[in-house]
Amino acid sequence: MPESDTDGRSTEGMVDYDANSLAQKQHALRNSDVISELAARISSLPGLLNFTDYGCGPGQSAIETVRPALATWQKSNPSRALSVCHADLPGNDWNGLTGLVFGETGYAAGPNAPLVQTAVGSFYERMVPDASVSLATCFFAGHWLRTSVRFHAPETIWFADLTGDARQQMWQRAEDDWTLFLRLRAEELQPGGYLYVSSLGAVPEEGEINQTAASGRGIYRALQAVTASMVEDGLLDRDAADHFVFGLWFMTEAEARKPFEKHADLDEAFEIDTIAVIPLDDGGDLFSAYLSDPVDYARRYTGYTKAFAATSLRAHLFEPGASAGKDAQWLEDEFFRRLDALYREKTSIYACEQWHTRVILRRR
Ligand SMILES: C[S@@+](CC[C@H](N)C(=O)[O-])C[C@H]1O[C@@H](n2cnc3c(N)ncnc32)[C@H](O)[C@@H]1O
Repeated sequence: MPESDTDGRSTEGMVDYDANSLAQKQHALRNSDVISELAARISSLPGLLNFTDYGCGPGQSAIETVRPALATWQKSNPSRALSVCHADLPGNDWNGLTGLVFGETGYAAGPNAPLVQTAVGSFYERMVPDASVSLATCFFAGHWLRTSVRFHAPETIWFADLTGDARQQMWQRAEDDWTLFLRLRAEELQPGGYLYVSSLGAVPEEGEINQTAASGRGIYRALQAVTASMVEDGLLDRDAADHFVFGLWFMTEAEARKPFEKHADLDEAFEIDTIAVIPLDDGGDLFSAYLSDPVDYARRYTGYTKAFAATSLRAHLFEPGASAGKDAQWLEDEFFRRLDALYREKTSIYACEQWHTRVILRRR
C-alpha cells in the first residue's frame, strides 16, 4: 500500500477551467455521434429518461456532452419527460455551470426543456438513487483516483514513470478504484441503460518505461523537470518532492478489462459493448497550430496545465514543500514561470500526446 494518504480528494476546485479546457471541449464534440447513437438505443426504455454526467466539471463541455442525447430524445418524442443530472465534487464551480446550462449556449431554456438536477459528491460513493440513470457519461474524470497518494518516488511525479513495487502499489489503487466505480454505477443504472466512460489512456510501446506510452507524457515530464529544478535550487523541500505523485492512472485496454475478468458480479451486471483505446488522428498536440510562435505556444500549454495541475501541486507539493522562506503562492508562480520558460525553449519536445480509453457498457 502507499505509505500514507491524505484526506484530500485527488482533484478539487480546478482553476480557469472554461478558458483552459480545450481538450475536454474537443472531446465532447468528437463524441457527439456516439452519444446520439447510445441515446437512440435506449429511447424506448419506459418512464422518464435521465442523462447523468459524472465528473461533469464547470464548463461548456458539460453542455456539449448532454446536448446530442437531448436532441435525439426530443426528436423521437417531443413530449417525453427528460432529466439531466450533473454530478461532481463539492468544489466544482456550480454557479458557473448553472449559468451556462440556463444561458444562451445552454440546453435548458427552450420548450420541452429537461428537468435539471445536480448531484454533489464523489463518484467513488453513491451519487443518485437506485436504477435512476438511463444514460451515463464520465468524460476525462475517471482517471483521477479516489484520494491523493503519497509514495516514495524520487524519480517522478507521474504514475507512468513509476517502476517496480511503487508502480504495482499504485496500479492496485487504480484497479480498486475502477472496480468500485463500476459497482456503484451498476446500482445507479436502470436495466438496459448505458454507461460511457472515456478517459485519458495508454498503449503498449516497446522501449518506453514499463513498455507503455501514457497520454500527456510530455506534459508530466515537463512538470517533473520543473520540480527537479526547484529542488535543486533549494526552493522546494526534497522530501516533499520525493513523495509527491499525481493521483492519476491512465488505463490501457487490458487494464480497463481487468475488473470484468476478475469479478463475476461485474460480468453479470454489465454487457461489454466496447473497451478500446482510441488514438487521435492528429496525435493530440492541443496547440500545434501555434508552434511557429513559441511564446504563444508556451503560454497556452502553461495555462492548460495550470488549470488541471495547480490544485494538486499546491496541496501536496507547494504547501508541504515550501522552503527558503517562500510561501505556496510564490512557489506556484515560480513553478509556472519555469514551466512557461521550458515550453518556450523546448516547444513540441513536451507536447501533449493523447490516447483515449473508451468503455461502453450496457446494464443487463
Ligand atoms: C478534467 S475535468 C472534466 C470535466 C468534464 N467531464 C469534461 O469533459 O470537460 C475532471 C472533472 O472530474 C471531477 N472529478 C474528479 N474526481 C471526481 C470524483 N471523485 N467524483 C466526482 N467528480 C470528480 C473534477 O472535479 C472535474 O470537474
